[in-house]
Amino acid sequence: MTPDFYSRLPKAELHLHIEGSLEPELMFALSRRNRIAIPFASVDDIRAAYRFTDLQSFLDIYYAGAAVLQTEEDFHDLAAAYFDRAAADGVVHAEIFFDPQTHTHRGIPMGVVLDGLFAAIEGARSRHGMTVELILSYLRHLDEEDAFATLRAAEPWLDRIVGVGLDSSERGNPPAKFARVFAASRERGLKLCCHAGEEGPPAYIREALDLLAVDRIDHGNRALEDPALVARLARTAMTLTVCPLSNVALRNVDRIEDHPIDRMLDLGLRATVHSDDPAYFGGYIAENYRAVAEARRLSRDAVVTLARNSFLGAFLDDAALADHL
Ligand code: ADE
Ligand code: ZN
Repeated sequence: MTPDFYSRLPKAELHLHIEGSLEPELMFALSRRNRIAIPFASVDDIRAAYRFTDLQSFLDIYYAGAAVLQTEEDFHDLAAAYFDRAAADGVVHAEIFFDPQTHTHRGIPMGVVLDGLFAAIEGARSRHGMTVELILSYLRHLDEEDAFATLRAAEPWLDRIVGVGLDSSERGNPPAKFARVFAASRERGLKLCCHAGEEGPPAYIREALDLLAVDRIDHGNRALEDPALVARLARTAMTLTVCPLSNVALRNVDRIEDHPIDRMLDLGLRATVHSDDPAYFGGYIAENYRAVAEARRLSRDAVVTLARNSFLGAFLDDAALADHL
């Protein structure tokens, strides 16, 4: 398969944190535009700091970087840059996470974040013909009351938000902590996603299924440690949004050559490939496909299955799904 096969293959992006698409160049430009100090003297300095030992070591830098995002225009510019890259990578439909608490805790109103994102989404539609949905992700290192406050703050815009997610520091913050706010989110008609089994144990994936009743699991790699859980995920065709370059950057997988993506497919799991935080992990979605496909010598059929799974796992209605398959 030629390198451009991966970028031409139509696909859905289901696991992308918009704050994780903040490239060092834009971080630097926004720190100047908004006069927000960052602890880096240059773009190269920023890139040099991207050596992670685990999820928390990344999150510390990711939250610090997000501080340069201040205005509606900043959120627009961030997302517009992402959509341009995604379109070049063959993304025709994107369901992207945003972390409102990262911004509201700094005094940035929810409406500033959302109006900037909505403007960029409109641009993605008109410039690239891309369809885009937003997923509001709760930060799991904060308490459930804070998540409830975030849901309330988003109330005026919920008809333009497809679902909620749960991200940030996984260990010590099990899905059970958010059972009530997920139930309230579902009552409002929102779809439910949860990062689980990235660093946390298989028990967290079970909790996401049993206590949160999620529609999608983000990552899910550690399900492989539990054969009965794998069988359940396969039987129920639960989508796992897997992020190969993220797994290597955060040391959940030693080397890309060791990535279990083909094992997941062989076990009958509905695995898909995504980019997580591409500005930090070294590649957008097509590069994730290329890197893992070459390292694992995936067949063309396997790569096409991954792309097909991305549409099957998307929150598309039947007519839109049929258009993509
Ligand atoms: N927030 C942004 N990226 C994340 C990841 N890979 N895991 C958990 N929280 C995140
Ligand atoms: Zn993620």
